[in-house]
Amino acid sequence: MTTNTNQHPTPAPEAVRVAVVTGGSRGIGRAVARKLARDGLAVVVNYARDAASAEETVAAITGAGGRAIAVPADVAEEKEVAALFDRAEEEYGGVDVVVNSAGRMTLSTIADLDLAALDAMHRTNIRGTFVVAREAARRLRAGGSFVGFSTSVVGTQFPTYGAYAASKGAVEAMTLIMARELRGRDVTVNAVAPGPTATDMFLEGKSPEQIDQLAKTPPLERLGTPEDIAAVVAFLSSPAGHWVNGQVLRANGGMI
Ligand SMILES: NC(=O)c1ccc[n+]([C@@H]2O[C@H](COP(=O)([O-])OP(=O)(O)OC[C@H]3O[C@@H](n4cnc5c(N)ncnc54)[C@H](OP(=O)(O)O)[C@@H]3O)[C@@H](O)[C@H]2O)c1
Repeated sequence: MTTNTNQHPTPAPEAVRVAVVTGGSRGIGRAVARKLARDGLAVVVNYARDAASAEETVAAITGAGGRAIAVPADVAEEKEVAALFDRAEEEYGGVDVVVNSAGRMTLSTIADLDLAALDAMHRTNIRGTFVVAREAARRLRAGGSFVGFSTSVVGTQFPTYGAYAASKGAVEAMTLIMARELRGRDVTVNAVAPGPTATDMFLEGKSPEQIDQLAKTPPLERLGTPEDIAAVVAFLSSPAGHWVNGQVLRANGGMI
């Protein structure tokens, strides 16, 4: 007896969606990479210097049955970022989601500002955003999403955050413009603006009293967790969040 294999063809496996997460080695980026992998995406975990942390993120994902690789690139270096996207395409066949979590924060009053520190921060936060966004605009497949990172400090206007908030104001300024430039591509562009979130960036250099005071500021009376922010990014970059486009979403427990 012969079996008619055409009668019950094996369904083609659903195409895997692919995410590039810059700054995916630590903090919010790591939580985003893990969440997207849990949601079934193959993830390229980018980092700048800390290969061991990037490998830890990858191990956490693959240990849970997901797909991920770690790829170094300074987000402000165009050749390195092009190579990062090349690697994603070679490994997984394309790019559907780009999350630019890489960022730096230097705090100072404007009177005391060290201009070399300002340049270094703006190189990562502003130039880096544009280098990554440019590559995303060129390569994202239909149905895709770009998610940038601002900060709620753009609204709270705390002293000493001037240069940092200015760099994130640039991210907010380009978000709707890029969304409009991608008309017809079926690609969304949004930014998330977290409030105080318990990562190295937030915790380093602050006293327990300062941390406690900031934690009590939002009506929900706690710090954000990287996972709180990852859930928002995952929504914005999922088919369920695809009608949200050109927006800056403040994720901060109601701080402002
Ligand atoms: N935490 C907060 O309270 C908070 C609030 C509002 C907004 N944000 C924003 O959220 C994003 C993530 O912050 P986080 O708190 O997760 O920071 P974090 O814990 O300090 O992690 C920063 C990540 O960015 C990477 N990175 C830094 N410079 C880079 C560069 N030039 N190229 C590529 N990767 C680079 C780091 O990799 P290496 O370790 O390899 O350098 C690391 O993976 C940032 O854009 C930040 O401004 C954070």
